[in-house]
Amino acid sequence: MLAGGGGSRLYPATKSVSKQLLAVYDKPMIYYPIWTLVDSGIREILIISTPRDLPAIEALLGDGANLGLTLTYAEQANPRGIAEAFLIGKEFIGDQPVTLILGDNLFIGEEMSAAITESLATFSGGAQIYLKEVPDPERFGVVEIGLGGAITSIVEKPAAPQSNLAITGLYTYSPDVVSVAERLPRSTRNELEITDINVAYLGAGALRHRVISSRVQWIDAGTPDALVAASLAIQTASREQSSEFGYVELAAYRRGYLNQESLLAIVDQTPSESYADRLRSAVANTAR
Ligand code: G1P
Repeated sequence: MLAGGGGSRLYPATKSVSKQLLAVYDKPMIYYPIWTLVDSGIREILIISTPRDLPAIEALLGDGANLGLTLTYAEQANPRGIAEAFLIGKEFIGDQPVTLILGDNLFIGEEMSAAITESLATFSGGAQIYLKEVPDPERFGVVEIGLGGAITSIVEKPAAPQSNLAITGLYTYSPDVVSVAERLPRSTRNELEITDINVAYLGAGALRHRVISSRVQWIDAGTPDALVAASLAIQTASREQSSEFGYVELAAYRRGYLNQESLLAIVDQTPSESYADRLRSAVANTAR
């Protein structure tokens, strides 16, 4: 997970606090992308952030052992692009496929984790990206799809987007992504661009994509409007008793990474009654 960046679009809220620690309704923003990973069966997570923010993120999440997760941390000393995560994470990646999620990306919808789990189970190397139809593609990396349904081009924040399909901040790569990142030239803004990584896989005929269901809401919560929209979406979802979006503890429990006794121990240490109730009620109704 890359949870870096200066959060300039959220200044001054981010003047002394990481964007990823700002609240999205009842939880810190970073809980949601971690929840997405854990709910999809990923339990070893390297969290990359700035030297300023990493201690606060680590203070929040710890080593994950109480949740049956392995959380480790690494610094991105300077904001040198999303793709630098693969250089920082070289040892972590080793010879295994790796999934990258951005710390401000929220995927809200029951179907998402099943879609990711299926993509991971059938992943056969190369790159896997997830696309979402959006009204404002110029804010994102955008793909163009040819007549046969294949991606023909990828452009980062195009002034005149060729489609409304944005590339979301969730990607899976084979371990050779490290060498692709090592060979990548820096962009004009002196960053290693994730879009250039995807363009490299596209050129090699090894880029697969999946369009996220219209029943899943995707929010890049990096602007004031998007942050409010994210809070409202979670508030709405949490009124449905069954909604468990962002409850990392529950994702770990559902996946069997922690047992009922350990979950109830967490409940006992939770000062917010409503948060504790939500965790407890999930134990009471174990079928989702
Ligand atoms: C980054 C990527 C962009 C992607 C977006 C998803 O943009 O560069 O391709 O669509 O994340 O959130 P950023 O949010 O860093 O501007």
